[in-house]
Amino acid sequence: MSTPAAPRVNGLCFGGDYNPEQWPEHVWAEDVALMREAGVTLVSLGIFSWAWLEPAEGRYEFGWLDRIMDLLHEGGIKVDLATATAAPPPWFSLRYPESLPVDANGVRLIWGSRQAYCPSSVAYREGAKRLTRALAERYARHPALAMWHVNNEYACHVAFCYCDASAAAFRVWLRARYGDLDKLNEAWGTAFWSQRYTDWAEVMPPRATPTWHNPTQVLDFKRFSSDALLELFTAERDILHSVAPGTPVTTNFMTGGGFDKLDYWAWAREIPLISTDHYVIGVSPQTPAEQIAFSADFTRGLAGGAPWLLMEHSPGAVNWQPVNLAREPGRMLRDALGHVARGSDGVMFFQWRASRAGAEKWHAGMVPHAGIDTPHWREVVGLGEALRNLAPVAGCTVTADLAIVLDFDSIWAQEAPPQPSRLMTAFAEIRRWHAAAWRLGATIDVVSPGSDLSRYRAVLVPSLYLLADGGVGALESYVEDGGTLVVGPYAAAVDEHDHVALHRLNRLLGHRLLEFAPLLEGQTVSLSGGYTGHTWAESRETVDAATEIIASFADGPASGRPAMTRRGGVWWLGTRLAEPSLESFLTGVFAQAGISVYDGPGTTGVERVIRQSADGSAYLFLLNHGDDPTAVDAQGVDLLTGATFTGHLAAGGVAVIRLTAEEKN
Ligand code: GAL
Repeated sequence: MSTPAAPRVNGLCFGGDYNPEQWPEHVWAEDVALMREAGVTLVSLGIFSWAWLEPAEGRYEFGWLDRIMDLLHEGGIKVDLATATAAPPPWFSLRYPESLPVDANGVRLIWGSRQAYCPSSVAYREGAKRLTRALAERYARHPALAMWHVNNEYACHVAFCYCDASAAAFRVWLRARYGDLDKLNEAWGTAFWSQRYTDWAEVMPPRATPTWHNPTQVLDFKRFSSDALLELFTAERDILHSVAPGTPVTTNFMTGGGFDKLDYWAWAREIPLISTDHYVIGVSPQTPAEQIAFSADFTRGLAGGAPWLLMEHSPGAVNWQPVNLAREPGRMLRDALGHVARGSDGVMFFQWRASRAGAEKWHAGMVPHAGIDTPHWREVVGLGEALRNLAPVAGCTVTADLAIVLDFDSIWAQEAPPQPSRLMTAFAEIRRWHAAAWRLGATIDVVSPGSDLSRYRAVLVPSLYLLADGGVGALESYVEDGGTLVVGPYAAAVDEHDHVALHRLNRLLGHRLLEFAPLLEGQTVSLSGGYTGHTWAESRETVDAATEIIASFADGPASGRPAMTRRGGVWWLGTRLAEPSLESFLTGVFAQAGISVYDGPGTTGVERVIRQSADGSAYLFLLNHGDDPTAVDAQGVDLLTGATFTGHLAAGGVAVIRLTAEEKN
């Protein structure tokens, strides 16, 4: 795709969602003046403005948008202009009731919130395309335009629709996948429970049923739903490309909180500029720094290693968690640089000015309710200054020699009941391993199983229940070529149709499964060598003399059986290692595989990441997540201060050091 992958902004982007329609016009001039004071370079405009832009079908009111676009341009602020299709207005829903989504129980959801549209609705798609075209034609050449923002967080509220139009579209998708009903019956295993289909009209989305659905039907419905929404995105993108060629286009992902409704790997291939939203979860097994590192590494993976954009995060408390924690003073800069260190070419927030009304009135804004004579505003201004100083970092990339595999098909299949244990969550486990590797000081890429693994010294596979047959060969080749592979429990249990296919990793692992033996919540198992496991055990017997048993189950349902093995470059775990055991296991693997680790934040509190430019410049980000000041062995000029780095980081302090040629090596 020839469309540029970077916003048309000099240096790093800084700003947030801007919703001027929530404020009288006299506030706008003050907004622009304050944006200038804070060093804002980019705002996302019009994300929820459909009702204001098209108050009646075909009647566009662009005057207010013209005025604010001009005002922003005069202030030197660029615009990430939304296609405004994320929330159809009430008139639209009333006129096209069939465009409203229907849940699995047949309840049609109504307007009055947002994202009330069915992914397969023709009326919605056509309405969205008309609005996109009208906006593109009007603003394609506006000097403030830096990039297009299609829709907003697709599927954040409505990922699945079960209406008749969705059922029809699902059948079209299934016909394309299977060709005929015999193949569908075979793939779905409909010999079970008398589910055999004899006519396409019988095939339904997984609407409410007396008990469990057919799991392959559910899996295919998730695949279909992700594709259906992706078609909405590409329809808007193609209009933007044709009317405004050369302007970057994005839609914002949600890579932080375990969102798993869309196959982001498939989506990423269609998106010229990858951006994401990240919100720290107050009550989480991972610390805020670990959450940020995962989201950023995952987004970089989606961008294929290229820079990407943090499109939203919160300047303080959010409004949608059970208890919305305030962020400690001083953490705004450190959190923001957590993203920049890992490849974001900017720092954007939701939102510019905290709202006075509506469902998000208690969400923090860059301009808080308490106004600008506040520590909060001073932190915003300080962040703007820091990002100006970090301009040379824009475009730089991050190199990792360790990868962790994340696959949506597998997560979808594994997390759909019934399973041997509902405690065997997939996404959460991948994040747990990522956090452990982060604490140990590894730099990690999050990758799809189909990606080129050859550049990594080691690949972690914490949770890969579903593995398509082709994937087995890819893992075998990676190991044959000298890679180190770490396979977690309950791996490669099923094929792409979610049919049991347990034998396929036997050759790589050198053992075979006898029986799964899940553990009760809170139950632990001891392994020889002092390791502790929980959640899961499996009984296996070795089938290859080259397989080394590193540790065996010392108790529990698989007592005496192998629990940790190694065969050449392939390591395997038959249980979920408890935190300290997981870290000590990974430490051993990293040493054997030659993974470059620094003295990680788990022991020092200090996170280190290097971003490098094509011309060889390198910038070392140092983020002290600890409560104590600390000494750090690094030399060079700190871009944030312009002074030589003293070697000391304050508690919670940050530095970005331009490395000299010697230190890079
Ligand atoms: C995002 C969304 C924004 C806003 C924000 C609040 O999910 O894109 O519009 O709702 O959350 O945290």
